[in-house]
Amino acid sequence: MITLKSEREIEMMHEAGKLLAATHREIAKMIKPGITTWEIEEFVEKFLKEHGATPEQKGYQGYKYATCASVNDEICHGFPQKKALKEGDIVTIDMVVRLNGALADSAWTYGVGEISKDAQRLLDVTKESLYKGIAAATVGNRLGDIGHAIQSYAEGEKFSVVRDFTGHGIGESMHEDPTVLHYGKPGKGARLKEGMVITIEPMLNAGTWHMKMDRNNWTARTADGQLSAQYEHTIAITKNGPIILTEQ
Ligand code: MF3
Ligand code: CO
Repeated sequence: MITLKSEREIEMMHEAGKLLAATHREIAKMIKPGITTWEIEEFVEKFLKEHGATPEQKGYQGYKYATCASVNDEICHGFPQKKALKEGDIVTIDMVVRLNGALADSAWTYGVGEISKDAQRLLDVTKESLYKGIAAATVGNRLGDIGHAIQSYAEGEKFSVVRDFTGHGIGESMHEDPTVLHYGKPGKGARLKEGMVITIEPMLNAGTWHMKMDRNNWTARTADGQLSAQYEHTIAITKNGPIILTEQ
């Protein structure tokens, strides 16, 4: 069941989202060769606490950490590690913030030091594909329009779109209806209505979209070992167009 949110609820989620965006901006300053994703994890815990917020992922379905930290060929749900990042790596940090009861969810991929041209292009196209998906998230459009906008652009740039993980509704809990596919056909799927709050979170791979699951049963990585990137925003669908809740 898709629940529609009131203006007040959306404002509260926006406050959580602004704090999440600020957290990402702090992480951006920290990322350099030699840092570990464990240090980022500890920073996030402390920063959220200082701002009266909590990391919603910690304890979610047995997940143990505030952040997911997915390096290079890891698609998503990587565990924070005490291993140093090195020049040329890419790392996706994904987190969900709860502030005054309201949730927001956002992931960014960061380059560590100088990264290759190919890696930078993957990051740029992945971010742009998210914004193309957001632009399609207007009242009266359908979910398939979002997926199609992402897929047609990403595949046109010769990257593949991960199928095994999706965006989702978000509200009282982190994962609600609807499921938001990052591929699809225009004009198909549920109609978008004012008051829907969803995440759009395309994961793009340099090679095949197929994945393999690690033995920890959480971390997904590309089947061919090539790079994967992700950008995610939480957005509200309003009569004035989509509002990104996890930016300024
Ligand atoms: N933030 C993720 C999402 O985009 C969820 C992470 S799963 C968790 O849907 F278990 F780590 F929380
Ligand atoms: Co997320």
